[in-house]
Amino acid sequence: MHTTVGIIGGGPAGLLLARLLHLAGIDSVVLESRDRAYVEHRQRAGILEQGAVDVLRECGAGERMDREGLVHDGIELRFDRRSHRIDFPSLTGGRRVMVYAQTEVVKDLISLQLRQGGGPLLFEAYVRAVTGIDTDRPAVHFTHEGREQTLTCDYVVGCDGSHGVARTAIPDLTIYERSYPYSWLGIMADVPPSCDELIYAHSDRGFALHSMRSTTVSRIYLQVPNGTDLAEWPDERIWDELDARFAVEGDWKLERGPITAKSVLPMRSLVAEPMRHGRIFLAGDAAHIVPPTGAKGLNLAFSDVVVLARAFAHLNATGSAELLDAYSATCLRRVWRAEHFSYFMTTTMHVDPAQSPFDTRLQLSQLDRIATGTAAATELAENYTGLPVG
Ligand code: FAD
Ligand code: PHB
Repeated sequence: MHTTVGIIGGGPAGLLLARLLHLAGIDSVVLESRDRAYVEHRQRAGILEQGAVDVLRECGAGERMDREGLVHDGIELRFDRRSHRIDFPSLTGGRRVMVYAQTEVVKDLISLQLRQGGGPLLFEAYVRAVTGIDTDRPAVHFTHEGREQTLTCDYVVGCDGSHGVARTAIPDLTIYERSYPYSWLGIMADVPPSCDELIYAHSDRGFALHSMRSTTVSRIYLQVPNGTDLAEWPDERIWDELDARFAVEGDWKLERGPITAKSVLPMRSLVAEPMRHGRIFLAGDAAHIVPPTGAKGLNLAFSDVVVLARAFAHLNATGSAELLDAYSATCLRRVWRAEHFSYFMTTTMHVDPAQSPFDTRLQLSQLDRIATGTAAATELAENYTGLPVG
């Protein structure tokens, strides 16, 4: 089997790349280790930046998102028992975000790929190794339907997430990373959101975030210590703790409902440089991880593949590899900006177990700057709604 671009991983990065390449007339094969149902139901991100929304519309995957997604014009910051709204359009010249779950984006991209004649998308195709990345015919070795197979390619793109094999195939990568002394406990609850817009809450007891999946389903997170055992968090304890962290002066109530899922996510920052070696490219979580406080992971994955698809289209049309050669440097500028914003949001909103009362006063002063000053609010709004993709 041979293809122009072999794509490892059928998460959002791999699926969008396959779609964009198809539209540019470039063939590809996507190899995804999990089955379709697993990939379509894996709970992850929920916020699409303006640029990600635009790309999904342009590639024909925006129809259901425009019908079912919730356009949000701002977020609420809560600290010191007060609430402050950050209005995106007025601070950014009209940009907004869309609340539309990653699970739904993935379903839309898969159905488009399978219905509209994109290249093959193989589920339960586990990639074991990539060889020949310094030659002009790299090979992807994978297991599918019990057989060991090889896909030769002109180029390989590793879209295989933070635990994939592509990153390990590249020698001499420099890894920059940071872990945080806390995790998130995330719940999904069958209860209408208690807010119209997301609430990011700083409290002495730790961070909490109220998000949503629809007008009837709430997605809520709370900061917990690393190594937390879910058994220690029965539903009542979660709701009581959320009540305490979201407490605010005035009239506001957190509605409770049945919790349908619970999980614990560690918080990590990581960048692998460069994002290309010979004929292999890294995109999305395979190249970088951000803690979710800035809602950047999925959006960064999309901007990588937009840059990459454009570079392949340029090669196809002109024979010039100039944009492919610039891929890593082009992406890394945005990646580091997103890393910085995610780090800033994380360290400003969470309580580090080792932090002093002085550190807490500094966090509150920083939040006050954002809540009361246009420059700091504009910076937050611009980072949150995102740079134009590409
Ligand atoms: P992934 O979505 O990880 O996709 C990689 C794909 O590659 C997977 O389908 C995997 O099965 C496949 N794969 C891996 N290894 C192989 C192999 N050897 N062979 C074949 N296929 C392989 N971001 C937010 O903004 N908000 C959130 O709340 C949030 N929550 C998250 C929770 C978790 C548990 C994780 C891991 C991430 C979360 N993120 C969140 C980040 C966001 O979901 C990711 O940035 C996004 O999924 C990146 O997409 P991707 O396609 O690069 O990688
Ligand atoms: C989510 O809805 O899952 C979500 C929203 C915003 C974040 C992180 C996660 O910053």
